[in-house]
Amino acid sequence: NWTMADFIERQVAEIREQVGDKKVILGISGGVDSSVTAALLQRAVGDQLTAIFVDHGLLRKNEADQVMAALADGLGIKIVKVDASERFLTALQGVAEPEQKRKIIGREFVAVFNDEARKLKDADFLAQGTLYTDVIESGTDTAQTIKSHHNVGGLPKELGFELIEPLRTLFKDEARALGEQLGLPHDLVWRQPFPGPGLGIRVLGEVTPEKLAIVRESDAILREEIKKAGLTKDVWQYFTVLTNMKSVGVMGDGRTYDYAVGIRAVTSIDGMTADFAKLPWEVLQTVSTRIVNEVDHVNRILYDVTSKPPSTIEWE
Ligand code: XMP
Repeated sequence: NWTMADFIERQVAEIREQVGDKKVILGISGGVDSSVTAALLQRAVGDQLTAIFVDHGLLRKNEADQVMAALADGLGIKIVKVDASERFLTALQGVAEPEQKRKIIGREFVAVFNDEARKLKDADFLAQGTLYTDVIESGTDTAQTIKSHHNVGGLPKELGFELIEPLRTLFKDEARALGEQLGLPHDLVWRQPFPGPGLGIRVLGEVTPEKLAIVRESDAILREEIKKAGLTKDVWQYFTVLTNMKSVGVMGDGRTYDYAVGIRAVTSIDGMTADFAKLPWEVLQTVSTRIVNEVDHVNRILYDVTSKPPSTIEWE
C-alpha cells in the first residue's frame, strides 16, 4: 500500500540521517512493537543494529523460537538472545501478589537488558517500539492505576542512549501493517495482545516451573482449537490461566486431586471494556477434553463468563 511504503521510505531516510555510521541497540521481548521496530531499523541501518532479546521464560509455547525465526533467520537481524528464565524464576520465588510480580518482572527485564547493553559498549542509540497510544498515555497514567503495565518501551532514560522511536506516530494496527510490509509473518504481527509479564500473571499466585508448564501447554491447546475453528478474528483475546484451586476428579478407576484451569476469551475493541466471548460449546468441549487428557495435573476446566467491568481481562 502506497502510504505505508512512503512511511517506510521516509523513516529509513530519517533514521540513516540520525544514526550515520554509529551503532544502535534495541530490546525485544517477543512482542509485536519491538519486533516491528527491529525490522524497520534493520531496513535502515542493517548490521549497525544489535537487538537484545531478553527471554524471561514467561512466553507462550514456541513463541521465542517463532520470533527468532522471523527476525534472525527471516530478516537477518543480528540478535543476542539471553535465556534469563532461571533468573526470573528465582526472582519470583515465593511472590504471590500480582503487582509485586509485575514489578519484579519489569525490574529484572531492565537489569538483564542493562547487563547486555553494557557489553556492547560502543552503541550510541537505543531504539524503542513506543506507539502513539504509549505517548499519550504516559502523561496521564489512567489505565495504569488498576494494573501497572510493563512494556519494553519503559527502559530507563539513565542508560544515556539517544532514543529512536520510529513508531511513535502509529496506532497499533498501523504498526502491524508496517511489520507485514517489512516482511514479518502475518500470524506474528497480527497476534492477539499478550501482556509484558507474560505467563507470570497467568499462573495465579506463586510462579513455579511446574505451574508454568501447565498454563503453557493448556494455552497452546486452546489457541490451536480456536484457530482450527476459524475464530481467531472473532475473539479479541483468548488464553488459559492456572488457578490455585485443586478439586476432586475421577480418571479410570482412580480418584484424582488436581488443578482447575480457567479459560478466558473476550471480545473487545481496545481492551478497556470487554465481553466474554460466546464460544461454541463444541469448541469448549474439545478444548476441555484435550487439556484434561494431555496436560498433567489438571482435572477440571472452568469458563470465565464475566465481562470487564467488573472483572478485568487477565485474572491478575
Ligand atoms: P486487564 O487485565 O487490565 O487487561 O483488563 C487489559 C489488556 O492489557 C493487557 N495487560 C497487560 N499488558 N503489561 C502489559 O503489557 C501488563 O502488566 C498487563 N496487564 C494486562 C491484557 O492482556 C489485556 O490485553
